[in-house]
Amino acid sequence: MKIRAASVLAVTVFVSASLFAQNGKKQEVSFKNDVFPIIKAKCLPCHAEDNFNPSELNMDSYDQIAAGGKHGVPFKVGKSSESLLIQKLAEKPPFGDRMPLNSKRRIQEGKAVWLTEDELKAVATWIDQGAKNN
Ligand code: HEC
Repeated sequence: MKIRAASVLAVTVFVSASLFAQNGKKQEVSFKNDVFPIIKAKCLPCHAEDNFNPSELNMDSYDQIAAGGKHGVPFKVGKSSESLLIQKLAEKPPFGDRMPLNSKRRIQEGKAVWLTEDELKAVATWIDQGAKNN
Protein backbone atom coordinates (compact mmCIF):
# COMPACT_ATOMS: atom_id res chain seq x y z
CA MET A 1 0.00 0.00 0.00
CA LYS A 2 2.72 2.41 0.99
CA ILE A 3 4.61 1.82 -2.22
CA ARG A 4 1.49 2.36 -4.28
CA ALA A 5 0.66 5.62 -2.48
CA ALA A 6 4.20 6.81 -3.03
CA SER A 7 4.12 6.09 -6.73
CA VAL A 8 0.74 7.78 -7.14
CA LEU A 9 2.18 10.79 -5.38
CA ALA A 10 5.26 10.72 -7.57
CA VAL A 11 3.15 10.61 -10.74
CA THR A 12 0.96 13.47 -9.46
CA VAL A 13 3.99 15.58 -8.65
CA PHE A 14 5.49 14.79 -12.04
CA VAL A 15 2.29 15.69 -13.92
CA SER A 16 1.82 18.93 -11.95
CA ALA A 17 5.45 19.82 -12.46
CA SER A 18 5.28 19.27 -16.20
CA LEU A 19 2.02 21.25 -16.43
CA PHE A 20 3.69 24.02 -14.50
CA ALA A 21 6.66 23.92 -16.83
CA GLN A 22 4.30 24.18 -19.80
CA ASN A 23 2.41 27.08 -18.25
CA GLY A 24 5.70 28.73 -17.43
CA LYS A 25 6.57 28.62 -21.11
CA LYS A 26 3.00 29.74 -21.89
CA GLN A 27 2.48 26.74 -24.12
CA GLU A 28 -0.77 27.15 -25.98
CA VAL A 29 -3.66 24.83 -25.27
CA SER A 30 -5.13 23.57 -28.53
CA PHE A 31 -8.88 23.32 -29.08
CA LYS A 32 -8.44 20.46 -31.54
CA ASN A 33 -5.88 18.40 -29.61
CA ASP A 34 -6.59 19.22 -25.97
CA VAL A 35 -10.11 20.55 -25.50
CA PHE A 36 -12.21 18.78 -28.13
CA PRO A 37 -11.20 15.24 -27.05
CA ILE A 38 -12.52 16.05 -23.54
CA ILE A 39 -15.77 17.41 -24.98
CA LYS A 40 -16.09 14.39 -27.23
CA ALA A 41 -15.71 11.96 -24.36
CA LYS A 42 -17.66 13.78 -21.67
CA CYS A 43 -20.10 16.19 -23.31
CA LEU A 44 -21.02 14.92 -26.77
CA PRO A 45 -22.97 11.96 -25.41
CA CYS A 46 -25.65 14.58 -24.73
CA HIS A 47 -24.61 17.76 -26.54
CA ALA A 48 -24.38 16.44 -30.11
CA GLU A 49 -26.59 18.04 -32.71
CA ASP A 50 -28.61 14.86 -33.18
CA ASN A 51 -29.52 14.70 -29.51
CA PHE A 52 -32.45 16.35 -27.92
CA ASN A 53 -30.85 18.64 -25.36
CA PRO A 54 -33.03 21.29 -23.74
CA SER A 55 -30.05 23.64 -23.43
CA GLU A 56 -29.82 23.86 -27.26
CA LEU A 57 -26.04 23.86 -26.91
CA ASN A 58 -24.45 21.67 -29.57
CA MET A 59 -20.77 20.90 -29.19
CA ASP A 60 -20.01 18.94 -32.35
CA SER A 61 -17.63 21.63 -33.56
CA TYR A 62 -15.94 24.85 -32.53
CA ASP A 63 -18.45 26.89 -34.55
CA GLN A 64 -21.40 25.24 -32.87
CA ILE A 65 -19.97 25.82 -29.42
CA ALA A 66 -19.28 29.44 -30.34
CA ALA A 67 -22.88 29.78 -31.56
CA GLY A 68 -23.98 29.02 -28.00
CA GLY A 69 -27.17 27.65 -26.48
CA LYS A 70 -30.14 28.93 -24.55
CA HIS A 71 -27.96 31.05 -22.29
CA GLY A 72 -25.77 32.43 -25.05
CA VAL A 73 -22.12 31.85 -25.95
CA PRO A 74 -20.74 29.54 -23.25
CA PHE A 75 -17.32 31.20 -23.02
CA LYS A 76 -16.12 34.70 -22.34
CA VAL A 77 -12.83 35.12 -24.20
CA GLY A 78 -9.98 35.51 -21.72
CA LYS A 79 -12.21 35.01 -18.68
CA SER A 80 -12.73 31.38 -17.80
CA SER A 81 -14.28 32.13 -14.40
CA GLU A 82 -17.06 34.10 -16.11
CA SER A 83 -17.64 31.39 -18.72
CA LEU A 84 -20.61 29.03 -18.57
CA LEU A 85 -18.41 26.27 -19.91
CA ILE A 86 -16.49 26.43 -16.62
CA GLN A 87 -19.29 27.58 -14.31
CA LYS A 88 -21.47 24.63 -15.32
CA LEU A 89 -18.68 22.24 -14.30
CA ALA A 90 -18.61 23.59 -10.75
CA GLU A 91 -20.37 21.89 -7.88
CA LYS A 92 -22.92 24.68 -7.69
CA PRO A 93 -23.57 26.00 -11.21
CA PRO A 94 -25.48 29.29 -11.69
CA PHE A 95 -28.51 27.35 -13.01
CA GLY A 96 -29.50 23.76 -13.70
CA ASP A 97 -27.23 20.85 -12.89
CA ARG A 98 -23.50 20.35 -12.64
CA MET A 99 -22.00 19.06 -15.91
CA PRO A 100 -21.46 16.48 -17.18
CA LEU A 101 -24.96 15.57 -16.07
CA ASN A 102 -25.05 12.53 -13.78
CA SER A 103 -28.07 10.82 -12.27
CA LYS A 104 -28.78 11.54 -8.60
CA ARG A 105 -28.26 7.86 -7.94
CA ARG A 106 -24.82 7.83 -9.54
CA ILE A 107 -23.82 10.88 -7.52
CA GLN A 108 -25.12 9.31 -4.29
CA GLU A 109 -23.22 6.11 -4.99
CA GLY A 110 -20.04 8.05 -5.67
CA LYS A 111 -19.96 6.83 -9.28
CA ALA A 112 -20.46 10.20 -10.94
CA VAL A 113 -18.24 11.19 -13.86
CA TRP A 114 -16.78 14.69 -13.58
CA LEU A 115 -13.85 16.36 -15.31
CA THR A 116 -10.45 15.62 -13.83
CA GLU A 117 -8.45 18.53 -12.51
CA ASP A 118 -6.17 18.41 -15.57
CA GLU A 119 -9.17 18.44 -17.91
CA LEU A 120 -10.68 21.41 -16.08
CA LYS A 121 -7.37 23.19 -16.25
CA ALA A 122 -7.08 22.54 -20.00
CA VAL A 123 -10.53 23.99 -20.73
CA ALA A 124 -10.00 27.01 -18.46
CA THR A 125 -6.55 27.74 -19.88
CA TRP A 126 -7.90 27.44 -23.42
CA ILE A 127 -10.55 30.10 -22.63
CA ASP A 128 -8.02 32.32 -20.85
CA GLN A 129 -5.72 32.09 -23.86
CA GLY A 130 -8.47 33.41 -26.14
CA ALA A 131 -10.79 30.42 -26.81
CA LYS A 132 -9.33 30.12 -30.28
CA ASN A 133 -10.19 27.58 -32.96
CA ASN A 134 -6.61 26.30 -32.82
C1 HEC B 1 -25.99 13.16 -19.62
C2 HEC B 1 -26.23 14.30 -20.47
C3 HEC B 1 -25.27 15.49 -20.43
C4 HEC B 1 -23.90 15.46 -20.49
C5 HEC B 1 -22.99 14.25 -20.57
C6 HEC B 1 -23.47 16.85 -20.50
N1 HEC B 1 -24.56 17.67 -20.45
FE1 HEC B 1 -24.50 19.73 -20.42
N2 HEC B 1 -26.54 19.76 -20.29
C7 HEC B 1 -27.37 18.67 -20.24
C8 HEC B 1 -28.75 19.11 -20.01
C9 HEC B 1 -29.96 18.20 -19.90
C10 HEC B 1 -28.70 20.53 -19.92
C11 HEC B 1 -29.87 21.50 -19.64
C12 HEC B 1 -30.15 21.58 -18.14
C13 HEC B 1 -29.10 22.33 -17.33
O1 HEC B 1 -28.67 23.43 -17.74
O2 HEC B 1 -28.67 21.82 -16.29
C14 HEC B 1 -27.30 20.91 -20.12
C15 HEC B 1 -26.85 22.21 -20.15
C16 HEC B 1 -25.53 22.61 -20.34
C17 HEC B 1 -25.07 23.99 -20.45
C18 HEC B 1 -25.96 25.23 -20.42
C19 HEC B 1 -26.17 25.74 -21.84
C20 HEC B 1 -27.21 26.83 -21.94
O3 HEC B 1 -26.97 27.77 -22.72
O4 HEC B 1 -28.24 26.75 -21.26
C21 HEC B 1 -23.72 23.96 -20.58
C22 HEC B 1 -22.78 25.16 -20.72
C23 HEC B 1 -23.34 22.57 -20.57
N3 HEC B 1 -24.45 21.78 -20.43
C24 HEC B 1 -22.04 22.13 -20.66
C25 HEC B 1 -21.67 20.78 -20.66
C26 HEC B 1 -20.30 20.35 -20.75
C27 HEC B 1 -19.11 21.28 -20.87
C28 HEC B 1 -20.32 18.99 -20.72
C29 HEC B 1 -19.16 18.05 -20.75
C30 HEC B 1 -18.10 18.30 -19.79
C31 HEC B 1 -21.72 18.57 -20.61
N4 HEC B 1 -22.50 19.69 -20.57
C32 HEC B 1 -22.15 17.24 -20.54
C33 HEC B 1 -26.99 17.35 -20.38
C34 HEC B 1 -25.69 16.90 -20.41
